[in-house]
Amino acid sequence: MRNFITIEGCEGVGKTYQTRLLKQYCEERGLDVVFTREPGGSDIAEQIRNIILDANNRDMDDLCEAFLYAASRIQHLRDIVKPALEQGKAVICDRYVDSSYVYQGIGRGLGLDKIVKLNEIAVGEYMPEFTVFLDLHPEYAFRRKGGADQNDRMEAVGYDFHRKVYEGYKFLIAQNPSRFEVIDASGTKEQTQAKLRSVLVRRGILK
Ligand code: TYD
Repeated sequence: MRNFITIEGCEGVGKTYQTRLLKQYCEERGLDVVFTREPGGSDIAEQIRNIILDANNRDMDDLCEAFLYAASRIQHLRDIVKPALEQGKAVICDRYVDSSYVYQGIGRGLGLDKIVKLNEIAVGEYMPEFTVFLDLHPEYAFRRKGGADQNDRMEAVGYDFHRKVYEGYKFLIAQNPSRFEVIDASGTKEQTQAKLRSVLVRRGILK
């Protein structure tokens, strides 16, 4: 879908910081770009997010988790993404279907095929025009951020899970090279931001 861009990466890669900086940059220049995130991003979707990430919900079934991410996605698409695209705005979304493919499909081991099918039902034709992958191995990312947040149910899963997630992303990129823009995120925050902006300029999203 033209003008729909998603940003992906492992925990601690600095995705949230980078998108915040990018948002500021767009606002200062009066560029009409909508920034949003998953899971959540709209009222009902944020309520679903709270259930998913609540550390007390240790007993959640993996398939239930996959459906909740997809449910949050459906609501967020309807409330935020579709209206913005219809108004001709660009939308930059922090995480989308690729997160489900790798976290639920590969990390949780539910199988990529099953999660792709589930998300086909959820998103239909709303696949991103392209996806930026901020590339940093979780071993390095967790060291840089000083360990995993134990109050976040997904972060707390353990290193092995996050290594599988990283390898999952690498697999997806190899399968869909034309959809992904891979950015090395091992440098300084400023370097990563500059790379991110230059990709968006090259792709015609930013001027
Ligand atoms: P968040 O605090 O937003 O993490 P981050 O800043 O790393 O994006 O929490 C989102 C968590 O949910 C994160 O651990 C990734 C996970 N996730 C999935 O497992 N599947 C999904 O489909 C999505 C969108 C996120």
